[in-house]
Amino acid sequence: MSKPISQVLRLYAAIEQLDYLPRLVARLCVGLMFFGGALRKAARRARIEAVPEMPAIDVADALETGETVLPDYAFRHGVPESALRAAPLTLDGELEIGGQEHFYLEGQIAFALPGEGGDMLVHSSTQHPSEVQHIVARVLGVADHAVTVECRRMGGGFGGKESQASHWAAIAALAARVTGRPCKLRLDRDDDFALTGKRHDFITRYEVGFDETGMIEALDVEHLARCGYSADLSLGVIDRTMFHTDNAYYLPHAHIASRRLKTNTVSNTAFRGFGGPQGVLAIECVMDAVARRLCRDPLDIRKANLYRAGRDVTPYGMTVFDCETLPPLVETLEESARYRARREEIAAFNMGSPIIKRGIALTPVKFGISFTLKHLNQAGALVHVYSDGSVMLNHGGTEMGQGLNTKVAQVVAEEFGLPLAAVKITATSTAKVPNTAPTAASSGSDLNGMAAKIAAGTIRDRMAAEAARRLGAAPGDVC
Ligand code: HPA
Ligand code: CA
Repeated sequence: MSKPISQVLRLYAAIEQLDYLPRLVARLCVGLMFFGGALRKAARRARIEAVPEMPAIDVADALETGETVLPDYAFRHGVPESALRAAPLTLDGELEIGGQEHFYLEGQIAFALPGEGGDMLVHSSTQHPSEVQHIVARVLGVADHAVTVECRRMGGGFGGKESQASHWAAIAALAARVTGRPCKLRLDRDDDFALTGKRHDFITRYEVGFDETGMIEALDVEHLARCGYSADLSLGVIDRTMFHTDNAYYLPHAHIASRRLKTNTVSNTAFRGFGGPQGVLAIECVMDAVARRLCRDPLDIRKANLYRAGRDVTPYGMTVFDCETLPPLVETLEESARYRARREEIAAFNMGSPIIKRGIALTPVKFGISFTLKHLNQAGALVHVYSDGSVMLNHGGTEMGQGLNTKVAQVVAEEFGLPLAAVKITATSTAKVPNTAPTAASSGSDLNGMAAKIAAGTIRDRMAAEAARRLGAAPGDVC
């Protein structure tokens, strides 16, 4: 390490030992010493000319401008228009679905270290090291092979670090390239809130046709999604909203439409459920509206419309297998949760309580595990067996508190017939497993676990064949 860099690192190490307030002041002074002066000078020289315009902030604004980040998209099942006209009863409505901030305990952060020959090592808190690698390489103007991205673990992701960890990694890498020094970039919580995307908020409009028993005959839905200033992951998110608009209910005729609206706000992004919750919420509101109209318990309407044999094809044409478990499952839960008795108790409470009101609901959920963009459903693993019998494991998934590394290590230990302590799992690195999918879509354990299982099984089989040859036994007898 060069002398100035080691001095800077030592200075930083000393500062980090200080108490909170002196540490803040010392960090600020050192920051200003190195960067502040030059940045302030540059900022003073800037001449900014701006023409004020009315920004599009919410869904209503975006409907007025008509701007979108992606084309409108819809799918149709049956003949929804004529089925709506023919339905004995119809209702229409609109609901507003709010967004959310991810609030990962560890905010966005990256640490870039320049190496020899233009190489860059970036430690990034990311669910998608490969995408960070590719973006950092594009920003630096180097090949992907010059950039290694490593993620030991995240202090939480929730989708907020699937596509949006790249900006900070790229900025840190650029600063490291320009200064020739390591650069760490950590967003303060307020900056993190202001600069990163959230769950997509929606306005959803619907018209539903149904009969006197609450059976749905047709549904026409339009999802108006606020995507922010760029497409980011909005295609997958809003597609998933559409795929979950049936939730667990058979819709004989359906038109499910979506608009991916552009606003002058942060680009909204992946967030646990990835659009699914918005679709589910929409149809559950429809169920409640139908129940209110018929003066029935909402659970009766939900149960009437559940997928079952013969009523088991989704609006996107997929047959729901094993849906026969759903009606008895809901019945069992209704009984074990004392749903009907509790509803009566709650109604009695609410009659005597003018301000505080209580509620209860029993709601099924059908959820699609895995990426809707099918080629992302793949993974890789690298398994080394050392001559003392210990195993080093690396795979393409990232650990964000969900216990993925422990699960994949357990798979490998089981495959080799070793105790868990014999398997060491190393930090996720693009230098070990390349071109990975993000850790997302509830698929990290299944995809990476199977990749590691296949890798370990291949080595185990080779070792068993060799041992069998030497010992004059059958490979299947080797343990
Ligand atoms: N589901 C969840 N997360 C994702 C997906 C998906 O289909 N695609 C990209 N990230
Ligand atoms: Ca965020």
